[in-house]
Amino acid sequence: MIDRIQALQGEAQGAIAAASTSAELEELRVRYLGRKAELPQILRGVASLAPEERGAVGKAANQARQALEALIQARTEEMAVGELEQSLLTDRVDVTLPGTPPQPIGRLHVLSATRRELEDIFLGLGFTIMEGPEIETVHYNFDALNHSPTHPARARSDTFYVAQDGASVLAPQDELVLRTHTSPMQVRAMEAHPPPLYVVIPGRVYRRDLDATHTPQFHQIEGLAVDEDITLADLKGTLLSFAKAIFGDERDVRLRPHFFPFTEPSVEVDVSCFHCGGKGFLKDGSRCYLCKGEGWLEILGAGEVDPNVYSHVPTTAANAPGYDPEKVQGFAWGLGVERIAMLKHGIPDLRLPYENDIRFLEQFS
Ligand code: DAH
Repeated sequence: MIDRIQALQGEAQGAIAAASTSAELEELRVRYLGRKAELPQILRGVASLAPEERGAVGKAANQARQALEALIQARTEEMAVGELEQSLLTDRVDVTLPGTPPQPIGRLHVLSATRRELEDIFLGLGFTIMEGPEIETVHYNFDALNHSPTHPARARSDTFYVAQDGASVLAPQDELVLRTHTSPMQVRAMEAHPPPLYVVIPGRVYRRDLDATHTPQFHQIEGLAVDEDITLADLKGTLLSFAKAIFGDERDVRLRPHFFPFTEPSVEVDVSCFHCGGKGFLKDGSRCYLCKGEGWLEILGAGEVDPNVYSHVPTTAANAPGYDPEKVQGFAWGLGVERIAMLKHGIPDLRLPYENDIRFLEQFS
């Protein structure tokens, strides 16, 4: 009996060693260790052997079974690694292939495309691009931008405040908001770099608003130029180049007095209407629907940086020698990416770009 066990073990070991796939191994496991296989049957029959044989046969059969199980286990693991490597090689998928059938190539979302176009224009004018946090402190969003303590934009009905964990009570200037404009980056940019500074800051901004011309999240591009001898004429020249680049070479811009807390003087900037050529009416004599007969379209807010803003820019090693309002002047603007896209493409409702309707999005290449 013991001889038979040894013979079986030898035969099985040879077969296991020669197996070349995990399927073959499984077959061998069934053949030598399965319920109907000879070795397990010998084990089951030990109880009916003569008492003097039981010990030796039981021990030999058990050892043989354990040895074969261990061998199969080891070979299986070895093969799994090899087979995985093999399948990684042969089943390799080239995710850059167009697919079958080829899928139409997608396109940039109209707002991304507009943002990139605007960025390119300002890069061409010598500005660099910076980005900043969307969760902002009250200090940068309002205080450092010269907002009065009672400015309406500070109200919780207008601005999203970020809830604090109950334990910590923050000082008012450290409270957190979803930034309501990209302007807080003006002070952050000046803290990080000495003058001269020419930067644009694209990004998302948030306000508690929702109708055909307002969404709770939208995009702005802030611009800031600080140097010596900067005047409003530099602002106008920069924005005229921008308006021509985006709306056509024949465009003109005009500045209207306005108020922003962080610029003095402040202006709203209009571009001459590109639909009626600034006339206010169309060839057939009807009123231009785009500018509503005005001949001008409002595109952004801007102004000369208020000297008070520089006083909120501490001098640090990063921006030494700092921003001395006696030495530097600057201009800034903030434009809405959605507004530019709506004007340029005649989009009637600001909510449309946010609805993910492919029929709408496919219209813009
Ligand atoms: N931050 C203003 C807003 O969101 C826009 C703005 C106006 C930005 C004038 C400026 C500026 O930089 O000079 O309404």
